[in-house]
Amino acid sequence: EKAGYEHFMLKEMYEQPRTIVDTISPRVRDRNGEREIHIEELNMTDDELRAIKKIHIVACGSAYHAGVTGKYVLEGLARIPVEVDLASEFRYRNPLLEEGCMVIVISQSGETADTLAALRESREKGFQVLGIVNVVGSSIAREADACLYTWAGPEIAVATTKAYSAQLAALYLLAMKLAKVRGLMSDREFTALLADLKCLPDQIELLLGQKQKIQRFANRYLGARDIFFIGRGIDYAISLEGSLKLKEISYVHSEAYAAGELKHGTISLIEDGTLVVAVSTQPELYQKMISNIVEVKARGAFVMAVTNEENKAVEKASDYVVYIPQTNPYFTNSLAIIPLQLFAYYVAVGRGCDVDKPRNLAKSVTVE
Ligand code: M6R
Repeated sequence: EKAGYEHFMLKEMYEQPRTIVDTISPRVRDRNGEREIHIEELNMTDDELRAIKKIHIVACGSAYHAGVTGKYVLEGLARIPVEVDLASEFRYRNPLLEEGCMVIVISQSGETADTLAALRESREKGFQVLGIVNVVGSSIAREADACLYTWAGPEIAVATTKAYSAQLAALYLLAMKLAKVRGLMSDREFTALLADLKCLPDQIELLLGQKQKIQRFANRYLGARDIFFIGRGIDYAISLEGSLKLKEISYVHSEAYAAGELKHGTISLIEDGTLVVAVSTQPELYQKMISNIVEVKARGAFVMAVTNEENKAVEKASDYVVYIPQTNPYFTNSLAIIPLQLFAYYVAVGRGCDVDKPRNLAKSVTVE
């Protein structure tokens, strides 16, 4: 079943290009020679889409992290305010859902207890809920008012990879659709974004091809006590996911920080030789990230940067660099996650961990 791969997680990482194609291509269509995004499952007219005043995204774990990326992309492209909540928090805080808001729940399994409860609570209050779900016919898929499937296929490894990547793709489509109907995106910009989306699968393939390089690097950190992930903006969102991947399968303690927050306490955790993974894919934030890299290096950190090829300045400032291919700044999380997944995977393999079934964790958390 593993098709020759050592673990399901590795197999599923390699399925990511296919997953992205399957999630995107049925929803990009030609109409009268023009390309458009058609999300049939939404069941909403363009007028209804234009009337959305606010979006609440609710999810757990990696699906929550996809939601954090979604916030940056939806707010940036469609200019709709977005709140992202952990489902276990949302359900007990008597959330203020206002007229015109849309609730989006994200879940691979479609069975996560807290996410399902959040969906029910929102529907009881009279709000429409859109599910972004992977498992066809799951509870969330059935109970949501509308369901946008991520066509990732069955995911076996407890640590999600391909379903997460598909969730990002689904959120990009939604953001582009909303931006388009709200008149916020020119045809030219839309065409350029579609072209970038189309390149993602091949670019992911290229990054997966760097697995040996990442494995060699990971092998240096098998005995690490703590590893930190830092980033700003959308790179902070991917830091959260990279850190979760590492800790859940390798049992190495790790944390993600918004890079600007280091000075407010967390920098005291950096010691001689501590690995800091600095994600820097947003051109307007390159300089700010370099300052943060310099700060942690001055405290003894070893810095691995994940950045764009053009960002040569970061190469000088850091100790080790992984480059991601050129894409739109809103889509960089889909590429930056690949080296982070590979890193987590190889640290776990090197430490002899049960990669597909990490201790104490279940694939689907159906109890509170
Ligand atoms: O099935 P769901 O997407 O609702 O699951 C949510 C989380 O339990 C899940 O993403 C978890 O954090 C994963 N183990 C992360 O790899």
